[in-house]
Amino acid sequence: MRLPILLLAVATAAAASDLDWWKTALVYQIYPRSFKDSNGDGTGDLNGITEKLPYLQETGIDAIWMSPIYRSPNYDSGYDITDYRSIQEEYGTMEDFDRLLNVSRGLGMRVVLDFVPNHTGNESEWFSKSTTRTSPYTDYYVWADGLNATDENGTLYEKPPSNWVSTFRGSAWQYHQVRGQYYLHQFVIGQPDLNYRSDVVQEEMKNVLRFWLDKGVSGFRVDAINRLYEADPRNFSGLYPDEPLSGAEGAVPDDYEYLQHIYTENLFETYDVVYDWRDVLDEYITSQGEYKIMMTEAYADLQLMIRYYGTKTRNGSIPFNFSFLGDINKDSTAWEIKTVIDKWMTYMPSGNVANWVNGNHDQSRMANRQGVDRVDAMNMLALILPGVAITYQGEEIGMTDGYVSWNDTQDPQACNTNDPVNYYKKSRDPNRTPYHWDGSANAGFSNTTGATWLPVASNYQTVNLAAQMATQKSHYHFYKDVAAQRKTPALQEGDLDTRALSESLLVVTRLLPGEAGMLGVVNLAAEAQTIDLTSLKILPSDLEVVASGVNCALEKNATLTKSSIPVSAHCALLFRSGIVGGGNAAGAHYLSLPLLVLLVVATYSITACFS
Ligand code: NOJ
Repeated sequence: MRLPILLLAVATAAAASDLDWWKTALVYQIYPRSFKDSNGDGTGDLNGITEKLPYLQETGIDAIWMSPIYRSPNYDSGYDITDYRSIQEEYGTMEDFDRLLNVSRGLGMRVVLDFVPNHTGNESEWFSKSTTRTSPYTDYYVWADGLNATDENGTLYEKPPSNWVSTFRGSAWQYHQVRGQYYLHQFVIGQPDLNYRSDVVQEEMKNVLRFWLDKGVSGFRVDAINRLYEADPRNFSGLYPDEPLSGAEGAVPDDYEYLQHIYTENLFETYDVVYDWRDVLDEYITSQGEYKIMMTEAYADLQLMIRYYGTKTRNGSIPFNFSFLGDINKDSTAWEIKTVIDKWMTYMPSGNVANWVNGNHDQSRMANRQGVDRVDAMNMLALILPGVAITYQGEEIGMTDGYVSWNDTQDPQACNTNDPVNYYKKSRDPNRTPYHWDGSANAGFSNTTGATWLPVASNYQTVNLAAQMATQKSHYHFYKDVAAQRKTPALQEGDLDTRALSESLLVVTRLLPGEAGMLGVVNLAAEAQTIDLTSLKILPSDLEVVASGVNCALEKNATLTKSSIPVSAHCALLFRSGIVGGGNAAGAHYLSLPLLVLLVVATYSITACFS
């Protein structure tokens, strides 16, 4: 009887970690086309990712999220899916995927997939059957008749069902000859929008989730979630209502910015679908003993975003926090950065999990947005703040945007400008160039003798992983040192305090009674400064450097007191403090073991009394 109780306690502890893993996960976004090419065709693939998994594990990554790996003609780099249940040929096979999953599991890392629910590819069987009105696909997509109109000469013509504009420019409606109707595409023409007012579609997409969950993936990043629904024509006399003009300066009718998207974005029905998917994911808590993460992508107002977390009665997702991408930049002050951090923590409903995104495949790289000088600072902030941290591949070594000529441009958002001069303003290709593994040809990404799918950025010989591993001080070593601290009790569950000591000094503490505290210090200024943190009363005085950024003179393992901390220009430092509430750092570990033994003995005696 006593042994089972002990086993039960151990099992419960293990299960708890499988259930809680996501709350502090370090998630690494892999853009499969650009991560590692294993077969020399110039495009990254699954076997390339598998080959590099040990690197990610060694770096401290808990889970990888892969951008879409499914069959697709690549009109939007894989976000136009023709078959949700098969692997894109150029990435490999389902066996390659299974192997990736197994290797990842063996290394203690989880795999998160990209789920693209708003649209499929127009070369999918679903779409083709919908064009011929073949059941059950007839209403899988948003179809509508054109409207009669007359031009200035009085000639009759047919115009699209509404004035809606695609994110990638031009009308969001495309006429289809076979069906004799227009279909909606909020992105490229090859991405027809699914119709979420159809129960069959709702069920179909839940089954897509189940297909991958059955295989053992640990969750999903959900694409373009706030585009799921459009205004219901039944509420507008059977028509799709025009959107009002935004008045945005310089915007022309073909630009997405031209309209206020009140009928195509952030419709409230969306939240219920997310909560329904949460229920599907939760079916696996019992069968697989693991909580499945769901991170939803929406660029929207904060108050609309936080509703994705759920309600009093329904659980939802983690809405991506894009404030580091959009609300701060290389000129932001410590005051502004603190405000951005505090804002998310303030609006997030209590008891939920925060998250910090420093980059993704849609945004200019962190080093370009925040400045090379702030690479360590931004990486550290994401990794020491509470909740999930998301790192886009290459940000750990401070990769910068590459140059992609008009001729090499692949991104439909850039191609649709039809402007060989200004296309770069819309292009996402520069932040999707191949990963810099080393200083060899093609940055070690591919051994092709031909061209890689996008050109490698020109600075790969100076900014690359091998070089950063070989030097003592590098963005990579700093990132890894900070990541290693994420498992400490303070960074797992410590209380957060953020302080801007001045325009250029930002201090973040994570403190937990009875544990060593963690303190992150950032100097944004171009001059060295010495800071006095005696005003942080609860922070123990003795500090030890556990991670030192590339611009810092203070080295790892240096010890000092909180009353005088010298911080070099553009330096980010992470310190471990003594035990919060008294004692010293080492003592805590010695103390905790006898305490544990005492507890076990006490439990044993109590159990014995009742047996
Ligand atoms: C968001 C994705 O991140 C982006 O890359 C894609 O183009 C659009 N959704 C459409 O799927």
